[in-house]
Amino acid sequence: MEEIYLDNAATTRVSDEVYAEMMDKYKNVYGNASTLYGLGREAKQVMESARETIAKSINADPEEIIFTSGGSESDNTAIMQTALSRQDLGKHIITTAIEHEAVLQPMRALEKQGFEVTYLPVDENGYISMTDFKEALRDDTILVSIMMGNNEVGSVMPIHEIGEILKDHQAWFHTDAVQAYGLLDIDVQRDHIDLLSTSAHKINGPKMIGFLYKHQGVNFPSFVKGGQQEDKRRAGTENVPAIAGFGKAVETITSDEKHRRQEKYYGFKQYLIDQLKANNVDFEVNGLVAKDNLNHVFNIWLKGISTYVMQTNLDLAGIAVSGGSACTAGSIEPSHVLVAMYGEDSPRISESIRISFGRYTTKEDLDKLVDAIVKTIGRIKKKGVTN
Ligand SMILES: Cc1ncc(COP(=O)(O)O)c(C=O)c1O
Repeated sequence: MEEIYLDNAATTRVSDEVYAEMMDKYKNVYGNASTLYGLGREAKQVMESARETIAKSINADPEEIIFTSGGSESDNTAIMQTALSRQDLGKHIITTAIEHEAVLQPMRALEKQGFEVTYLPVDENGYISMTDFKEALRDDTILVSIMMGNNEVGSVMPIHEIGEILKDHQAWFHTDAVQAYGLLDIDVQRDHIDLLSTSAHKINGPKMIGFLYKHQGVNFPSFVKGGQQEDKRRAGTENVPAIAGFGKAVETITSDEKHRRQEKYYGFKQYLIDQLKANNVDFEVNGLVAKDNLNHVFNIWLKGISTYVMQTNLDLAGIAVSGGSACTAGSIEPSHVLVAMYGEDSPRISESIRISFGRYTTKEDLDKLVDAIVKTIGRIKKKGVTN
């Protein structure tokens, strides 16, 4: 059975060019980048060339890019190391209720260690309010960690406005750009961002590689301790083929390409909305369909149909979508994002699916998805069982 993959916010297929790049480097560039002989120097050169490409993609200097094992490690590092190294200046942190667990769990760990964390609420469309943010900001705030774009509903946060306020404040500004990277134009200087997390596997690169951007003025000790790699900022022998693959993935996503993708995915959303309506599917979109949101994420409430039943039936039809927060879920757990948006009593919590588009998604995939949703609903209604 042909697989239809519509869970690109969870992860993406490695592109052919990334695959070719990595195979070449696995075979030919196997030296340890910290060694001084030819093979080591070659590995270092490959790594530094990727670092340059990546730095350019967010208007940073190459020295500000630290390779990590991905989004989770970058988030953990930014949050834990900022808090622990700046506690003399205050113990207050601001974040949002709809961050990824890679942000929320370090926050909870810090609360246990005596830090005070403000979780900004979101409205029904998944946006924070700047009034709430301004009210929450205090003299003793040392860190603000607000995601660039949400992984479940695609809401984009007012990063530029927050950066403008924080540039004259002691708090360091961290943003989790794991979902936004590859779709939005990111400029750490324009937006006064101090720390930024990304992950290669969301943009057709390999898994377990990402970077943490750390502004030159930001100083904290390495989270992973050991050797002197990454200029003593992250120990561990660098995965040069993965870094080269990451660099290749970034190289192919030019600014034009980002805009093309955003347009294409926005069109996909409109198309799905039209098709579902034409087939009399009773649904509502979770969040807002807006051009400047992350358009690869399309989260819908299929009224009266449980997430579990729909997801399992789609799986039987060879279609991969997500229920709940796919990044954390092996099982389906209530999404804290939907709870924050609609309250825990909303039927949306147990009757929604997330469809997410990627580079290889086609209109035919969407037609097959609609067909499978319509058939599933028909079968369920016939049997009278929805949950
Ligand atoms: C917004 C966000 N942050 C962090 C992560 C974690 O990234 P990684 O899987 O690279 O650790 C994910 C995805 O899974 C994500 O969507």
